[in-house]
Amino acid sequence: AIPMIEMNDGHRIPQLGLGVWQDDDAQAAAAVRCALQAGYRLVDTASIYENEAGVGNGVRESGIERAEVFVTTKIWNADQGYQAAQDALHASLERLGMDYVDLLLIHWPVPSRDLYVETWRALIKLREQGLARSIGVSNFRADELHRLFKETGQLPAVNQIELHPWLQQGELRTANGVHGVRTQAWSPLGQGKVLADPLIAGLAAKHAKEPAQIILRWHIQHGVLVIPKSANPERIRANADIFDFVLDEDDMAALAELDRGQRIGPDPATFGA
Ligand code: A2P
Repeated sequence: AIPMIEMNDGHRIPQLGLGVWQDDDAQAAAAVRCALQAGYRLVDTASIYENEAGVGNGVRESGIERAEVFVTTKIWNADQGYQAAQDALHASLERLGMDYVDLLLIHWPVPSRDLYVETWRALIKLREQGLARSIGVSNFRADELHRLFKETGQLPAVNQIELHPWLQQGELRTANGVHGVRTQAWSPLGQGKVLADPLIAGLAAKHAKEPAQIILRWHIQHGVLVIPKSANPERIRANADIFDFVLDEDDMAALAELDRGQRIGPDPATFGA
């Protein structure tokens, strides 16, 4: 079974879930149904993915009760601000066909616009209203987390960041950890690009697992939350089949050597400006 991890607000989150970026509504619905039937209990979408309706349909069609499923969505950059962010969640809930989300994230800080603190105040209100059970951020750096805390007294439950063997984010994982903010990895497989790394292939052969399973297991053993994206039923199932083996110390040390500070996605310092 997929481990449940406690967050700093007392709620629990599945350590592994399904990503649906780049799926259309029909693909998202099919992927969500497949994943929930395979034992997943978390789906990570965003308003900018334009597939929240598909995610909602997939959850309803799965036969798994809404209360058993952990649904994350995100406030897009253009919807930052105290009122706009609240309106954006209402629109997301409408598309999802749900009356709450389990986790609501600010998708990017967009430091140049300097609206993320006001947006964070909106998320605090939405949590008080029960429309978002937990609230967090994505792509925030340590100084931005500190500012949220300094100005509102409230820390995010989660900081979802680009994280994979080529971008291991040691400092930011530590900064999250000291504040009890859970680190969640987006593109945990480096959008699939890290799968071909020869070291990963060697470990896959050693453990009789697939490259993706080696990388996801590495995240899990670091205590990181992961949301691998797949639209393929076999790969969806394989990505959750990682709780029957353990990477040893030598494996973990070898994987640590792959860190090269290489982003595949945008730089949060400038994205959305
Ligand atoms: P697909 O949807 O066709 O399975 P990330 O989550 O790091 O962004 O990676 C997602 C990419 O990796 C997608 O292109 C996805 O393709 C691919 N992918 C996901 N799981 C696997 C897997 N187990 N083996 C190979 N490729 C995978």
